[in-house]
Amino acid sequence: MGIKETVSVLGLGRMGSALAKALVEEGYEVTVWNRTPKTVPNARSVGTPQEAFKSDVVVTCLSTYDVQEPLLTNEIKTLVNLTSGTPEEARRTAQWAKANGVEYVDGVIMAVPQQIGTEQARILFSGNEKHHVLHAFGEPVHVGEDAGLAALYDLALLGIMWATFGGYLQAVALMGSEGITPERFTPMTTSWLNEMSTLLPEMGEETRTRRYETDVSALDINVSGLRLLTEASRAQGLDTTLPQALHGLFERAQGNGHGAHSIASVIEEIRK
Ligand SMILES: NC(=O)c1ccc[n+]([C@@H]2O[C@H](COP(=O)([O-])OP(=O)(O)OC[C@H]3O[C@@H](n4cnc5c(N)ncnc54)[C@H](OP(=O)(O)O)[C@@H]3O)[C@@H](O)[C@H]2O)c1
Repeated sequence: MGIKETVSVLGLGRMGSALAKALVEEGYEVTVWNRTPKTVPNARSVGTPQEAFKSDVVVTCLSTYDVQEPLLTNEIKTLVNLTSGTPEEARRTAQWAKANGVEYVDGVIMAVPQQIGTEQARILFSGNEKHHVLHAFGEPVHVGEDAGLAALYDLALLGIMWATFGGYLQAVALMGSEGITPERFTPMTTSWLNEMSTLLPEMGEETRTRRYETDVSALDINVSGLRLLTEASRAQGLDTTLPQALHGLFERAQGNGHGAHSIASVIEEIRK
């Protein structure tokens, strides 16, 4: 086995602390820096980012690019950027790295801190194919040559998560308004979600071919259903932002001639 690279972690929030801990556990010599002084067992804490830049690899995990960008200098040898951002922000950092002679890996973490260092954690990365230390955090998955792609996958997958969680919370509030507990209701939602996920490949194919004929469920009936969910939520004194937003979007697709088509046809409105 060759000599391990030395690694620094910038940002010791919930995620950065988990990353530093995983690197220590993998046997790396780890240096950490955080705005608010913090320690990680068996890692060396330093008072400035510049001291951290002496390591072979610098992993950043800060809240946003606005926070991260002013800290970066060309003293960094290899930057493994795990701060969440937009594809444009990732591309901008890749360009900065190229112009400054810094080797660059752009990654996103598809896991919560408690999963870091386990095989449940997937780290999507794009641009440079050499992933340096990402294997210490979970399974590295290269998603393409363009440095912005990992961020694109991240936001797309998180969008599904936020929509699902929002839908679940609306449902829990609705059931709770009639005294049905989450404990009683949740088992039904997990099997429902599993069933829904089996429909996605066909839906994806419909969006690709733009052929929306259906003998399953027409958009018309789903627009009516969303109106019913909005009315029922309102009648129970609940917020109606989410069902109303979906109702508005689906209704626009219906108004543009997709009433007899499948739900997949709503993408025609989204793509506009
Ligand atoms: N938590 C997750 O489940 C998760 C999952 C995937 C990806 N991520 C991504 O990982 C990144 C960090 O998330 P987190 O959960 O660790 O967030 P967090 O717990 O809120 O930590 C934020 C980090 O950013 C630092 N920071 C904030 N403002 C700063 C400033 N003006 N100057 C210098 N440092 C500053 C904080 O330093 P202080 O301690 O001094 O405030 C802290 O180290 C985010 O981009 C997030 O989207 C998180």
